[in-house]
This record gives sequence, C-alpha cells and structure tokens, in this order.
Amino acid sequence: MKFRVDLDARGYEVHVGHGTRALLESIIRDRAPRAQRAVIVTSPQLRVLPWFDFVTGVEADVVEVPDGERAKTPATFVELVETLAQRGLSRDDLVVAIGGGAITDLAGFAAASYLRGIDFVNVATSVAGQVDAAIGGKTGVNLAAGKNLLGAFHQPIAVVCDLDVLETLPPRDFRAGMGEVVKCALLEGLDGEGLRSMSFDAQVELAIALKARVVSGDEREGSTRALLNYGHTLAHALERASIAQGRDDLRHGEAVAIGLAFAARLARALGRLNDAGVAVHDEMLASVNLPTRVPDHYDTLDLLEAMKHDKKAHHDLTFVLAGPEGFSVVRGVDTELVRHELEQFRGES
Ligand SMILES: NC(=O)c1ccc[n+]([C@@H]2O[C@H](COP(=O)([O-])OP(=O)(O)OC[C@H]3O[C@@H](n4cnc5c(N)ncnc54)[C@H](O)[C@@H]3O)[C@@H](O)[C@H]2O)c1
Repeated sequence: MKFRVDLDARGYEVHVGHGTRALLESIIRDRAPRAQRAVIVTSPQLRVLPWFDFVTGVEADVVEVPDGERAKTPATFVELVETLAQRGLSRDDLVVAIGGGAITDLAGFAAASYLRGIDFVNVATSVAGQVDAAIGGKTGVNLAAGKNLLGAFHQPIAVVCDLDVLETLPPRDFRAGMGEVVKCALLEGLDGEGLRSMSFDAQVELAIALKARVVSGDEREGSTRALLNYGHTLAHALERASIAQGRDDLRHGEAVAIGLAFAARLARALGRLNDAGVAVHDEMLASVNLPTRVPDHYDTLDLLEAMKHDKKAHHDLTFVLAGPEGFSVVRGVDTELVRHELEQFRGES
C-alpha cells in the first residue's frame, strides 16, 4: 500500500506492507535516476539482523553509527557528514537511513546539510519510525539543552515501512511505538472497540495515512500539524526531567501515553470532555499495555516548569486538547489548574 505526502515537487510516497524493503532498488531508480552512489546509515545492532538484505542498484557503502538515541549527537552528525564527503557523494547521490527514529533523524539531518542538501530515503524499522519519525521531514540531533534542538526540515524522497522487520523489535520498543498509534487513533475519533477491531497492519496504516495527510496540508507545523503533538506537552516535560535526572528511563511512546491520559483529564477539567471520553483514553492505552501514570520520582513543579519551556509552547502552557468540536491547540491554560490536575492525576490509584 502507498500513501502520498503531497508537497508538489517535494512530495513522495510512503510504501507500507510486508516485504516492501525489496522495493528499495526500484524506488531509487525511479526517484534518484542520476544517483551513482549511496551511503546506507544504520547501527551495528541492526546490520546483523536477518532482514538486513538491501539492494540499492547503485554503489553502496554501509556506515555504522551508535545505536538508538546515542546516534543523535552533534559529534556523530559531524562525523557522518565527514564520511559522506570522504565517500565522495555528489549532489546526485543519496543517503539511505535504515533504522528507528533516531537513525532517520540523524541521517536525514546529514542529508539536509551535506552539500546544502542531498536526497535521502528512510527505511523505517521501528513502529515509532514507521508511523511517525520517518515521515514529514523533521530531522535533527539533540543538544545538551534539550532534544531535537539542532535540525532542519528536509523531506525524504521516499519512505519504506516493511512490516516484516518489526518482528525483531524488542517488546518494549514495540509497545512504545503503539503510543503514537493510539494517539493517531484518538485523533481519528476511534474508541477502544474501533482500535481492537483493526488488525495491527491496519492500525499502522491508519497512523501513516493520518501523518501523510496532515504533513501534506501543513509541512512546517503552522496549523494542523501541531495537532500531532497530542499528549506531547507532558511527554516532553517527562523526557526532559528524565534526562535531567540522568535516568533516561522512559521511551518517547511511553511518555506520550502518560501525556495522552493527562491531556484527557485536563480537557475534562476545562469542560471539553466527559468521563466517558477519559475512560476511552485509559482503555485504549491499557489495551496496548502502556503506562498511564507519572512515575513517583518526578516532581510536579519540575514538570510544570518543563511544560512551560517546551519548545513547542510559546512561553505559556500549551496543550492539544479534545473538545466537543474536535481537537485543538489550547494556549495559555491556567498554571494553577494544570498543577491541580497533575496532582489529582498522580493521586489516582
Ligand atoms: N522526526 C520526527 O518527526 C520524529 C517523530 C517521533 C520521534 N522521533 C525521534 O525518534 C526517536 C525514537 O524512535 P524509535 O522509537 O524508533 O527509537 P530508536 O531509533 O532509538 O530505536 C529504539 C531501539 O530499537 C532498535 N530497533 C529499531 N528497529 C528494530 C528492529 N526492526 N529490530 C530490532 N531492533 C530494532 C534500535 O536499534 C534501538 O535500539 C527519538 O529520537 C525521537 O526524538 C522523531
């Protein structure tokens, strides 16, 4: 199945299904006909997996970067662009990112910067990568001051989501990716039964279709793309606090799950959602075994402070919230109300 991200000349297809990695060669021939070389960016841990059998149709070198979030540093980024230069990549050549969101973010940023921008293809190998990170052109690495603070918008020329490769994904990473799937299902108005009635493949397709459609309408997050940040205000605060405490004990999707449960309660406190709506959020998150409570070691006031400084907020408390007329970005939510709701939420058994 194919979904189009429709951005005129910069538009591209997201190829989803079982065995779609075999399409890579024809995708490159079609989308980058002048390419003679490719650099495949991946991690040593992924390179040895049984599905790592890619044919590009051009001269290709594999370059290994550290696994997971450790790939997303300015130092690794510079090392990677130096390698692209050493391998003699020209403006006609391309980068192929094969990995989870960390690798597609890093490799995409290298492709955005090298020679002021060359083509890249994302082969997304995690659930989070397939339904979210690989699509939409947000690329970048982390700074000491926070996640994803150094980066660029640069769209890939194609995205490949092979559902077969998810078989080797560790269970915790699989579950975490489902946090983004649940987010998309909620944004699409599904309830627990609606989600359960779909196969896993259909759930992934629903999330990809939503992301492709939203990015097509609002590439730079000027309006509707911001709705994809549902659950992310508290999630980013938890991630910041977790890194500040040197714990790094929460996956992004787990933090999003907690953020979704909280956003539902905040919407209820503002009279935008009823108890049944809150229960739908809890049920959907529980059905994929995701956490819905803030771990004890996070301090409410620290989280409140971090939420105010979320890079997507505008120096106030900004949330995406459900409402009678659908979801919207709500700015300037009262600090005292948020603190109270967060305390209540934490007190729930
Ligand atoms: N650019 C965006 O729009 C966007 C959106 C969401 C998330 N992100 C970023 O994505 C990252 C999270 O992505 P992620 O959850 O994929 O994490 P990740 O890339 O860190 O991967 C998690 C782990 O899963 C392993 N893995 C990936 N695919 C595998 C497979 N098929 N089999 C076995 N192991 C596999 C990785 O090697 C890694 O150890 C974060 O850095 C986040 O900031 C970016």
